[in-house]
Amino acid sequence: MIDSLEPLFSKRRAMVEDRLGGIPSDAGDPVLASSMRYSLMAGGKRLRPVLCLTVAHLFGLAETRALPFAAAIEMIHTYSLIHDDLPCMDNDDLRRGRPSNHKAFSEATALLAGDALLTDAFRLMTQADVPPSSLLEAVSELAFAAGSPGMVGGQALDMALTGRSGTSLEALKTMQALKTGELFRASCTTGALLAGATREDRAVIDTFGSSLGTAFQIVDDILDVTSDAKTLGKPVHSDEANGKVTYPSLVGLDESRRLAKTQAAGAAGCLSRFSGEDADFLRALCDYIVERAM
Ligand code: IPE
Ligand code: IPE
Ligand code: MG
Ligand code: MG
Ligand code: MG
Repeated sequence: MIDSLEPLFSKRRAMVEDRLGGIPSDAGDPVLASSMRYSLMAGGKRLRPVLCLTVAHLFGLAETRALPFAAAIEMIHTYSLIHDDLPCMDNDDLRRGRPSNHKAFSEATALLAGDALLTDAFRLMTQADVPPSSLLEAVSELAFAAGSPGMVGGQALDMALTGRSGTSLEALKTMQALKTGELFRASCTTGALLAGATREDRAVIDTFGSSLGTAFQIVDDILDVTSDAKTLGKPVHSDEANGKVTYPSLVGLDESRRLAKTQAAGAAGCLSRFSGEDADFLRALCDYIVERAM
């Protein structure tokens, strides 16, 4: 972690972890509850909820008022990881430094833990302490980004391209913009919506989030080639083994690194109109995204 991101990152991450700690409080089955908790509390960088809290605070909303919404975003992200690791998807046995959910429990339980995290996230979201009209807009935005027009659509494209040759850079970009970019974008935009930011500021933050998400996924692809499982907490060389289309597979490592930097610089450029602690934090996050080792 870049020094200038601490201690604000630690503070916001701790708020998120604290809120997630009580989830689920009322699951109908104890094994389902353990399985949900197992993946939710396994660490994870908590980037998306921290982005949401930071953008909300940038536009004047106290973090505590956005916290249920930010924690709900992390629940949706965690569900996507559980399902992404299933044998019918990426078939990965390690996640966040532990056996993947379906390895620790069963495929059926992993499937249901994902379903439950996704559904319970929408109940938690409604507890954000903001005017109902802002909340409604934010919920709609997040549902769009996580659903068939966004993350799930991108995961479907990812599967459709798997094992195929001749994929264009355009197709790769679209797939990654949906599977990863959309949740990053919505994490930022919903923070702005909850805080009642102007339409103009929201548009800038929207572009910031998409660019940051693009940079993030390019680096994720790079780390699958260059890192090790202990550092990443998930398997390496999984993309190649699965026949995934990635930036390194299409344009090579050097060009991938260059493109990630360009995207992160584009994201940072969106922030020029903002000043103060939160804007500086977001600028440092742009550097962190490309320099990160995990
Ligand atoms: C992994 O996301 C999935 C991708 C979109 C690449 P993260 O790298 O943010 O995963 P955690 O939450 O830190 O485990
Ligand atoms: C997954 O992309 C994006 C999701 C929506 C979960 P990857 O399949 O590359 O994510 P990792 O590398 O398994 O974390
Ligand atoms: Mg995948
Ligand atoms: Mg995967
Ligand atoms: Mg990956």
